[in-house]
Order: sequence, then C-alpha cells, then structure tokens
Amino acid sequence: MFVPFLDLKTQYNQIKDEIADELSEVLDTCYYVLGPKVASFEEKFAEITGTKYCIAVSSGTAAVHLTMWASDLQPGSGIIVPPNTFTASAEGIVLAGHVPVFVDVDKDTLNLSPEKVESFLESCSSGGKPVDPKTNAQIRGILAVDLYGQPAAMPELEKISERYGLLLFEDACQSVNASRDGRPAGSFGTAAAFSFYPGKNLGAFGEGGAVTTNSEDIAGRVRTLRDHGSREKYHYDFIGHNYRMSAFQGAVLGVKSGYISQWNDRRREAAKRYNELLSGLPVELPVEDGDVRHVYHLYAIHTPKRDDLRKHLGEMNVASGLHYPIPLHTQKAYSYLGYEAGDFPVSEWNSSCNLTLPMFPDITEDQQVIVAEAAKSYFSEKD
Ligand SMILES: Cc1ncc(COP(=O)(O)O)c(C=O)c1O
Repeated sequence: MFVPFLDLKTQYNQIKDEIADELSEVLDTCYYVLGPKVASFEEKFAEITGTKYCIAVSSGTAAVHLTMWASDLQPGSGIIVPPNTFTASAEGIVLAGHVPVFVDVDKDTLNLSPEKVESFLESCSSGGKPVDPKTNAQIRGILAVDLYGQPAAMPELEKISERYGLLLFEDACQSVNASRDGRPAGSFGTAAAFSFYPGKNLGAFGEGGAVTTNSEDIAGRVRTLRDHGSREKYHYDFIGHNYRMSAFQGAVLGVKSGYISQWNDRRREAAKRYNELLSGLPVELPVEDGDVRHVYHLYAIHTPKRDDLRKHLGEMNVASGLHYPIPLHTQKAYSYLGYEAGDFPVSEWNSSCNLTLPMFPDITEDQQVIVAEAAKSYFSEKD
C-alpha cells in the first residue's frame, strides 16, 4: 500500500455535501469576490484566533506582506526572522520595503530562539538603538514563525520586543488553532499572518490567507490595502494591492473552520502514535515545548542519514518531504544581505537532517505502522 504525504480526498469526501451547498450559494448570488461568505468566514476565524479582527486575503504571502505594510514601520527597517522557514516569511518583509535580519533558531523547537535574539540585539545596540551590522538597517521588528504547527516562544519575544521598542509579528501560516500558554496562535504581537494553501491544516480549494490583529488601526489599513487602498469604490486613500479573497474560498473555509479543532486533535493523536512507533530508532523526534498545543502541520524527524532514509522510504512506497532543505540565508535570492554558510548552525543542521513524514487528520494507524516499519527496516539493514 502506498502511503501518501497528504490525503485531501478522504477529508473532502466527508464534507462534500456541505461544501457543495455553500458553493452553489456563491454561484446563485454571483458574488464572486469578498462578499458575505468571506465576511462570515472572517468572523469565524477571528473567534478561532481569539482576536478582535480577521481580514481574509488572497494568500499567506499577501498576509505576511500586509502585516508589515499596514504597520508603523519606517521604510528600510530591519526585521528579525529565522532562516529556516518558507521563503514567503522573508519575502513578505522585503515586499513591505524592509530588510530581513536572520537570527538562528532553538535546536528543540526549530523556532526563533529568544536567547539568540536577545544576545544579537545586545551585541548590535552599542549606539542605543539596535542596528544590523550586515546591512546597517535599524532593527524595528521581529517576525517569528510558528514552524511545523508549534507556536514560537511568543511570550518571551513579546518581552524582548517591549524592551527594545520593536514590533512583533507572527507568521502563523502553519499553526491554525495551535496555542501557547492557552493563547491562540495569531493572537500575539502586533499582527499575524495565516495561509490557507490547500495543504495547510485549514486548506482552501485554491489560494487564501488572513491577517489577524487586535488593533483597529491595523485592521482598517489591511482591509483597505487588500483592495487597492480604497475604502469607497473609486476613492483611493493610498496605493494598495489586489489581495482580495475569492468568495468560493471564503465559502469552503467557512465550512472547514467548523472542523479544524477536531482535525487538529486527530493530527495530535497521530503524532503521539508516531512517537511511540518510532521510539528506539536513532532519529530525533519532534519536541513539544512547554504548555503548547502543537498542531503538527508537519511531523518532522531528524537524522544525519536523512537522504538515504528518504530514498529507502520511497522504495517502500512511503512518501516524505523536506522542510526546508536550503536555509534562506544561503539562498541566491537573499545573497545581497551578505550571509554565508556556517552563520546559522541550527538552521543548517535542520536543513541537512530533517525529514517530514506523512501527516494528515485521516491518516490511519495501519498507514502509520507501514511508515514506521519502513523506517525500522532501513535502520535494521544498516546494523
Ligand atoms: C511559514 C509560511 N509562511 C508563509 C507562507 C505563505 O503562504 P502562501 O503559500 O499561502 O502564500 C507559507 C506557506 O507555505 C508558510 O509555510
């Protein structure tokens, strides 16, 4: 039996009728962009994130861009971000006219390390304000990424941000319905970004994203910027973008948001099962850090034998992924920032050793046993 990395079909079959009803309403009203379906999803999603405002947009990349675009940041501000993330985190910083400033992550969680952020800020604040030694950009923000479904150490980062007068942003694209210390992902800092790309825990049937915030000002600006800087048709307060969500995606997400908590519970059960099945193998398993609800967008293990193990799993009909094989500071797109291989050892270790295993709410115990047996057979052949 082939074990896929992700199975969207089984989930779709369970909610097919509800989705069809919602989509046919969109078709009947001919309201294809924004409109009542998107507005109703925004309300539901604000409840999930425990925030006052949610603004639905066209993608997670747009959402990351908008969090900073809508904030009071002087152009060319340095924004601290981890190098082991999807390119869109740093891309959003650049699109908003700012400068990514990479700081390494914590080995256990692979999220931005508050200790490293603090010591970096100390080391570059000799003139009073923190200035990035590579680019001379004054550091005015932090974009923490909740990688793999586990919220970053946001409470500590909030304290650091306050001490240094920085704005804190959350890239929660992988962590819908996760929480830390009882606080939902998306509710920390100035504003947060979510992605509803189909493979995400809450996936649209196309592209989608959202910004969540408790700031009325930021919510208002995001709402305007996503629609060409216009509050009123043909009146443009400033230059914006077309980052509007399609009504079809709003309709799909409205249905799916009613299930996200139970789907994430099932991912958590599957993660627990993997932990048991894989225990004893010479691989590092995911670590839950403190009082978190990790929602296992990805279940990542680490081994220096990653490439060989992946090949073996493929031969045994088990799909797997790499998240992410090249850290951003060594990517050509960011070479202008002046970093080199060796600058961020933990992110580089992650890139060379991480392997993500099949994970989705409907993964069966049998499928997980096949994955684990395939991994075991690799290591027993090596003995
Ligand atoms: C951490 C992170 N940030 C941003 C994004 C961008 O989201 P989208 O693909 O919806 O533009 C993603 C999606 O892969 C992501 O994983």
